[in-house]
Amino acid sequence: MPMELTQSRMQKIWIPIDHRPSLPRRRYRACGPQLTNSPTVIVMVGLPARGKTYMSKKLTRYLNWIGVPTKVFNVGEYRREVVKEFSSYSFFHPDNEEAMKVRKQCALAALRDVQLYLKEEGGQIAVFDATNTTKERRDMVLDFAKENDFKVFFIESVCDDPSVVASNIMEVKLSSPDYRDCSSAEAMEDFMKRIDCYQVNYQPLDPDNHDRDLSLIKVLDVGRRFLVNRVQDYIQSRIVYYLMNIHVQPRTIYLCRHGESEYNVLGRIGGDSGLSIRGKKFSVALCKFLEEQNLKDLKIWTSQLKRTIQTAEALKLPYEQWKALNEIDAGVCEEMTYEEIKETYPEEYALRDQDKYYYRYPTGESYQDLVQRLEPVIMELERQENVLVICHQAVMRCLLAYFLDKSADEMPYLKCPLHTVLKLTPVAYGCRVESIYLNVEAVNTHRERSEEAKDFSRASCGGLLWIGKGLVNIK
Ligand code: SIN
Repeated sequence: MPMELTQSRMQKIWIPIDHRPSLPRRRYRACGPQLTNSPTVIVMVGLPARGKTYMSKKLTRYLNWIGVPTKVFNVGEYRREVVKEFSSYSFFHPDNEEAMKVRKQCALAALRDVQLYLKEEGGQIAVFDATNTTKERRDMVLDFAKENDFKVFFIESVCDDPSVVASNIMEVKLSSPDYRDCSSAEAMEDFMKRIDCYQVNYQPLDPDNHDRDLSLIKVLDVGRRFLVNRVQDYIQSRIVYYLMNIHVQPRTIYLCRHGESEYNVLGRIGGDSGLSIRGKKFSVALCKFLEEQNLKDLKIWTSQLKRTIQTAEALKLPYEQWKALNEIDAGVCEEMTYEEIKETYPEEYALRDQDKYYYRYPTGESYQDLVQRLEPVIMELERQENVLVICHQAVMRCLLAYFLDKSADEMPYLKCPLHTVLKLTPVAYGCRVESIYLNVEAVNTHRERSEEAKDFSRASCGGLLWIGKGLVNIK
């Protein structure tokens, strides 16, 4: 007998009605797209200073942003927990048997945490960030994955360009806690010797013979070439696709909203109105700001809505329109003020405050929908160098959340004021953000998280359940 269905009020999706009495029901929360059935361990491979941690962190940020719960397990951090005082490269010498034992214990401890994350904590992908340069170590990980029914995907970074290795060491290794008390020159010398220790026993992945049955990608010379073998599923192909699109060239991404619109002034959401007088002033100020930035080959992207196109027109530069950059679709609430929404659709108004990321407007979109729509924009942003994106409040929050690694819970409350440019510059493992107000007044369209929503957010994290109007502890 098929289950009766009801439409969830929050996400407007069909779910079975559960008539069973009294079981404590968790708040219904469809997670991200179900892209993979069995959990996956991504195993990094490569000599030190080959960008493994950079790739691990960046890939993890992307996967979390698209809704696939992912976490990095860095074996170096486990080792630093155990060996508080790092002495020198000799710790990594292949003849240092004592240290070898410690290193193996650290790898096993990290794998235990991987197991916990994938089996108990709702993780879908664990990135095992270590050198894994020997067949023996990789076999240990493969055995672990087999015992636990996890899929395995290897990512090997191969790069023999001394200038790339040196700049990687300078950028991220010299500031490592391992070299807290050293000069840069001492640290550099020690790290080069550490690489030599690994080089002695390095066995690269061998997809032509020994490793022909493994799923893997070899990233050669920082993405100049790739070798891909036996991709097993959709998520692995998506990982390959992502790794093939990222680059490490220095560049800047500018994010801003359109100039203040006529609807902004009236406090109406959505619609397709033109710029207000102050909005037009902003577009002129933006033109001046860009001239001062003196950028080489700046790409400019807008949405297909009038207010972003009017803003771009003032720049007197070529621009491209993306439908994917259009503002969140507020469905039946388009062109209304928040007061009107509260009066006409009081339940919708309250639901949105309860969970702004998952809440979908009737016949419209949620932030979660928006992230899916923006994925191709992110991929193209990764491919490009200098880009200015002129977009909308909700869209800018989603893009910003990707670059700053913000959670789904934080995303809908990120501050993206009108007439302010956010300048994003990639640094080491993240992004530096500067906020530049262009000195043209505008209305404030930011709505803080309501007190009720704050309670609700705390409750979701703290084991409390929302029932009717009250909060009940379910711990
Ligand atoms: C480290 O201890 O820093 C790295 C461990 C490894 O070889 O993966």
